[in-house]
Amino acid sequence: MSDKPTKDYYRLRATEYEKIYFREIPERRQEIDDEADRLRALVAGKNVLELACGTGYWTKVMSDTAAHVTASDVWPEMVAETRKKPFVGPVELLVADMFTHQFPDAAFDVVAVGFWFSHQPRQEYQTFFDIIMKPLKSGGMIWLIDNNPPAEGTMHEFVRQDEYGNSFKRRYLENGEQHVILKNYFEESKLRAIFEPSFDLRSLIYKNYYWSVVLIPRV
Ligand SMILES: C[S@@+](CC[C@H](N)C(=O)[O-])C[C@H]1O[C@@H](n2cnc3c(N)ncnc32)[C@H](O)[C@@H]1O
Repeated sequence: MSDKPTKDYYRLRATEYEKIYFREIPERRQEIDDEADRLRALVAGKNVLELACGTGYWTKVMSDTAAHVTASDVWPEMVAETRKKPFVGPVELLVADMFTHQFPDAAFDVVAVGFWFSHQPRQEYQTFFDIIMKPLKSGGMIWLIDNNPPAEGTMHEFVRQDEYGNSFKRRYLENGEQHVILKNYFEESKLRAIFEPSFDLRSLIYKNYYWSVVLIPRV
């Protein structure tokens, strides 16, 4: 299940969120663009389910080549932002909590989740995996992207660690409001250790700013 303060924070951040994609750091921008190219190739001609779609940055990317994208987020404010995107192929938008909504079983070629794994409580990864595998056809693939640790000097935002090893950090909205949210970072070897018991790792990209994986559930 979602960490509640983290989930609630994203509702308030809906109109500001997309700015993270346009920070003027060329290397960071390049990593995102490279991943977008890989994702377009991965979903070409496929039926895709996107969970926690946020403002639809990756929804738009996938709509460039996918046969169909069903994109969902728990907050109507996020889905409203996604609706503004200039989609290319067919996209269906849903307000849905990924942990309680009944998506059709075994119906999708690809399940995509951007920047949400890092907010999952470590003690609940199996629940997260069960949820993302259920709507996937046999032989289907899961795509995840997320952040690598921020550069030195920004760790002052760290607030605490809990007994499961989850890290909590302080985030600020543009109006100055402060929120403490769950956010975990991973070394490459840790990602392998987390995913390999349940999935074949079709790819693991580990860059300065981001990591991404393509996972195939073990049957
Ligand atoms: C960090 S944002 C990522 C947005 C988008 N996937 C991206 O990569 O740009 C996390 C998203 O998860 C959504 N979210 C939080 N709890 C959720 C839940 N239980 N079910 C579905 N979406 C949820 C938030 O509303 C937010 O849009």
